[in-house]
Amino acid sequence: MAGAGVALKGLLLRKSLLVCAVPCRGLRMTPIQQQQQEKSSAVDTYETLKLERVRDKVLHVELNRPEKRNAMNVAFWREMVECFNKISQDSECHAVVISGAGKLFTSGIDLMEMGSIFVMVGGDDTARKAWNIRRKIREYQETFTVLEKCPKPVIAAIHGGCIGGGMNLISACDIRYCTQDAWFQVKEVDIGIAADVGVLQRLPRIIGNHSLVNELAFTARKMMAPEAESSGLVSRVFQDKEAMMESAFDLAVEIASKSPVAVQGTKVNLVYSRDHPVPEGLKYMATWNMSMLQTEDIVKSAQAAMEKKTPKQITYSKL
Ligand SMILES: *[C@@H]1O[C@H](CO)[C@@H](O)[C@H](O)[C@H]1NC(C)=O
Ligand SMILES: *[C@@H]1O[C@H](CO)[C@@H](O)[C@H](O)[C@H]1NC(C)=O
Repeated sequence: MAGAGVALKGLLLRKSLLVCAVPCRGLRMTPIQQQQQEKSSAVDTYETLKLERVRDKVLHVELNRPEKRNAMNVAFWREMVECFNKISQDSECHAVVISGAGKLFTSGIDLMEMGSIFVMVGGDDTARKAWNIRRKIREYQETFTVLEKCPKPVIAAIHGGCIGGGMNLISACDIRYCTQDAWFQVKEVDIGIAADVGVLQRLPRIIGNHSLVNELAFTARKMMAPEAESSGLVSRVFQDKEAMMESAFDLAVEIASKSPVAVQGTKVNLVYSRDHPVPEGLKYMATWNMSMLQTEDIVKSAQAAMEKKTPKQITYSKL
């Protein structure tokens, strides 16, 4: 990266010329643009999720069926996809915190509602039936893969139990915090299935201790907060839920204050490099950078650094 400094200086020069040459700041918004802005800052409503703009550019997604221990029913599997696809496009949101309402994070799949789904899948013969079941499973996998596809960092804040489906959910998040009373359980073997929506693929890449991962997955034993922290599943443990939520929101605010081009590019490339060898990851990064290095955010960051400002004092345009 020897050329980087020179390139950056060139960029700085060119950009500052550009900024002076195009005085666009004074443009007024048309009523339609204003309407769109108001609309985009409104928060959608869901049956199983509660969305709230808790801080500037930070969304709080709450699993919101406390009376059912946030069990994952038919609506939940659909709404997660809708919700995170929207967040991906929402330039008013730069970071997300996901938590559970009520006594615990989630009790996992809602067996009452979901138990019969795969039994009911039709098909004229075994092959067709199997084909249709496969399609359903792929659909359910998407419910958590959307967390990874969403370029905005997602922080899971876990209290009480995080069971079965919950483990699939949190392993697709970027950062995990929990309370000291939290516990984790890869529950699927206890209901006679191999976990099929992501935890077996993602957990071994989060916890380096494979003997531990295998033990958890084969036995469905509970893992308590201290072991979750020492094994690297969570990065911080808090006294209670209130303290955890406060810190999770602070962390989200901190992330949201940085250049969204930098942060979201970082997430995309971290996820990519988890799934590819280093040489491929570097090639991807270079291709990514050949467009993203042209961002105005670098100029703004460099200028701010020269003026000894912190990232929070810079206004990056939204993404
Ligand atoms: C793996 O996990 C077990 C159980 O938590 C722990 O006792 C052991 O020290 C861990 N090993 C490594 C190498 O981290
Ligand atoms: C990509 O750009 C970032 C700065 O945005 C820099 O830190 C990184 O080294 C660059 N990577 C490559 C492979 O050029």
